[in-house]
Amino acid sequence: MGEERKIKTLEDLGLSPSLLHKLSEAGFKTLEAVAVANVSELASIVGIPTPTAHRIVSKAREALGLRFKTALELKKERESIGRITTGSKKLDELLGGGIETRTITEFFGEFGSGKTNICHQLSVNVQLPPERGGLSGKAIYIDTEGTFRWERIEAMARALDLDPDEVMRNIIWARAISSDHQIAIVEEAMDVIAKENIKLLVVDSVMGLFRAEYPGRENLATRQQKLNRHLHQLARIADVYDVAVVVTNQVMARPDVFYGDPTTAVGGHVLAHAPGIRVQLRKSRGGKRIARIVDAPHLPEGEAVFIITDEGIRDIED
Ligand code: GTP
Ligand code: MG
Repeated sequence: MGEERKIKTLEDLGLSPSLLHKLSEAGFKTLEAVAVANVSELASIVGIPTPTAHRIVSKAREALGLRFKTALELKKERESIGRITTGSKKLDELLGGGIETRTITEFFGEFGSGKTNICHQLSVNVQLPPERGGLSGKAIYIDTEGTFRWERIEAMARALDLDPDEVMRNIIWARAISSDHQIAIVEEAMDVIAKENIKLLVVDSVMGLFRAEYPGRENLATRQQKLNRHLHQLARIADVYDVAVVVTNQVMARPDVFYGDPTTAVGGHVLAHAPGIRVQLRKSRGGKRIARIVDAPHLPEGEAVFIITDEGIRDIED
């Protein structure tokens, strides 16, 4: 173990220069990038035999401590998880203290339910110091719908007495135009995360482009398979880099469903087969929004009510 800990970069793995060069050419430039890679994909992208790829990925994972762990190590990891406030105490309580690092949190709900507003607010709040509910970190915002508004960030930053320009400088934005592009941006994001103090990765929305490109029942299996790989990649990033990953998913109200929940994610919940926390958002009277956690036995049952104001996400004044 002592020896493993000395491994800090890809160069420390003791690979041949030509192999290092091949990896770098194929975009695998950091230990983390290799550690989170899928073995067979790495083999085919780099053009090396699968056993070699397996050996490299294993070494990288071992160096980063992605191996068997004791229960005590798990406990310590759990205690080191960071949390980001949403701006609403009620919503934070529902989430067990805010949005967590090392986890994917999915916000799903119909149009206008507040998904994008929450993503903006978290991108600002992650920059707050821990005593104010942040992680003194930066955010990456992957925008698939073109709904990111710097004006909104500016207003939210002002409301928190933060320097708006500084806050905007710390949010790294990319617009994805296809599902393949979205996946490629996440790959590139790993380089940025390795260099900058990124503590939040937003994908708003995670599903939109996939849904548009693979419409209908006949494409459901292909779409889901591709999406699941994407989500597992996001989950690995959350874990390896200790960042909070937040994704959104627009779902339509389904009046045709007579039993169960009338607002179900068409084609299944995004995170149905990936680890994470799912939060349903609903619009309510007087501009209120209601959040509810779905399928998380470790979190409190119930709902949280919050509002979207000019200043951002807030509790309702009582
Ligand atoms: P889709 O992406 O269309 O699925 O919706 P969404 O869930 O992302 O909703 P979004 O977060 O964009 O919420 C839009 C709603 O937020 C609007 O209908 C407004 O009610 C509210 N909102 C947005 N900007 C402001 C603002 O500057 N001030 C106030 N008071 N409310 C705002
Ligand atoms: Mg939105």
